[in-house]
Amino acid sequence: MVGVVALVLAVHDIPLANHLESVERDRLATKYERDAFILGGRSEEALEEGVAATDTGLNAMVLRYASEEEVDVVVTDSDGVGVVASDASKIGQDLTNRVEISSALADGEPQTGERYSGTLRGDLFFVAVPVLSGDRRVGAVRISAPESIVDDRVNAQVRGLLFVALLSLAIASVVAWLFAASVVRPLRRLHSATDRLAAGDLSTRAPTDAGPPEIRDVAESFNSMADRTEQLVERQRAFAGTASHQLRTPLTALRLRLEQLAIEVDGDTEMEDTVESALAETDRLRRMIEGLLALTRAEDAAVGPVVVDLSAIVHERAEHWRPLADESDVRLDVAAPTGVFVSVLPGAAEQMIDNLVDNALDVSPTGSRLTLSVSAGTTTTELHVIDDGPGLSDADREAAFERFWRAEGATPGGSGLGLAIVRQLANASGGQAELRAAPGGGIDATITLPNGRPRSA
Ligand SMILES: Nc1ncnc2c1ncn2[C@@H]1O[C@H](COP(=O)(O)OP(=O)(O)OP(=O)(O)O)[C@@H](O)[C@H]1O
Ligand SMILES: [Mg+2]
Repeated sequence: MVGVVALVLAVHDIPLANHLESVERDRLATKYERDAFILGGRSEEALEEGVAATDTGLNAMVLRYASEEEVDVVVTDSDGVGVVASDASKIGQDLTNRVEISSALADGEPQTGERYSGTLRGDLFFVAVPVLSGDRRVGAVRISAPESIVDDRVNAQVRGLLFVALLSLAIASVVAWLFAASVVRPLRRLHSATDRLAAGDLSTRAPTDAGPPEIRDVAESFNSMADRTEQLVERQRAFAGTASHQLRTPLTALRLRLEQLAIEVDGDTEMEDTVESALAETDRLRRMIEGLLALTRAEDAAVGPVVVDLSAIVHERAEHWRPLADESDVRLDVAAPTGVFVSVLPGAAEQMIDNLVDNALDVSPTGSRLTLSVSAGTTTTELHVIDDGPGLSDADREAAFERFWRAEGATPGGSGLGLAIVRQLANASGGQAELRAAPGGGIDATITLPNGRPRSA
């Protein structure tokens, strides 16, 4: 807004200033010309009679006028010789070499303009008029001033214009500030509320008590939308949780019946195989339901993070998995310095390690190595689960975190929810989870968690 006002002022005031300057210059020229004619009228008789030099009244008038107006005045006779002058050195001097004086005497016309003056060593502004007695030219009167003095007078007018322009700018700044306070600030707050909602903070609301009515209306509409979104998401979560929970009971009953059936078909190989795979599918379904329940719990994250000894947990989980690793002839190494504390949701570290080790053992070939390591940084700590398996492509390493995503040819039985749960738990703990390519070609599953300070330290 201030910029627009400055632009308008520049477009408007620069030509105006130029115009004002020329008007002021013309006005001064006209005034000096009129005064020169008045002085000429007063000198006419004395010049005609050749007594101007001794006419004390005329001399006093010339001197007074010159000092009041801060100009130079000279009255010459018809030969262009100075007879009365504010500058005494010009009395008796032949002034016909001053072009305006010789022209006024020769043409009988007033002369106005500027020229370089050798006496002043600068530009001179002048008005020279002939003194006429009837048709005869009995002398001339010249009023002159250094150009700089004329400029000062003209500039005084232009300065007035500049002052008005600055005043307009100051008023525009105040108005712009008031405008910002009433419109831009509420808009900014609305904008940041939108950003927070987009970032996943469903509880965010925009203030509805500031700004013009239009912005308040938008803020109210935004808040209604946020209310509705929050309700919908909440309902969806609750549905996933309840549905998974409700499915558990019939599933357990189904499993029991299948087990019963397995006893009954004992001996019938074909039926035994069918019941066996039905049992395997039931187990897969159960794992999926457990996974969905775990995800809903992680999303709710009603309890905040706690500080745990990550090294101790890694050692404990490694011992839990060791028999299974031994069974597959996989060497399980642990590299975790003691006493590395992190902040994480209760039970989440164990759950994340279990999911990652489960995945790694699934793909680890016989005789390969599986490494669990912990490395503490200044603000965060990294937990790595590194396998020697076949690895995944760049795109698949990211896709693996999507719910129900499983690589083609993945070991049967998985639900495709393990990594989604890992990422959800890591994020809810203020950290992150990613799959990196391990140098040996396998996967380096990395969890980054914020460092925590042990309570007893
Ligand atoms: N270490 C790994 N090496 C190679 N592929 C992996 C590895 N970890 C995960 N994957 C791939 O990512 C897929 C998704 O893993 P995720 O843990 O989410 O599900 P899952 O293991 O199939 O099932 P769940 O863990 O729910 O029982 C896996 O099926 C597998 O194809
Ligand atoms: Mg898994």
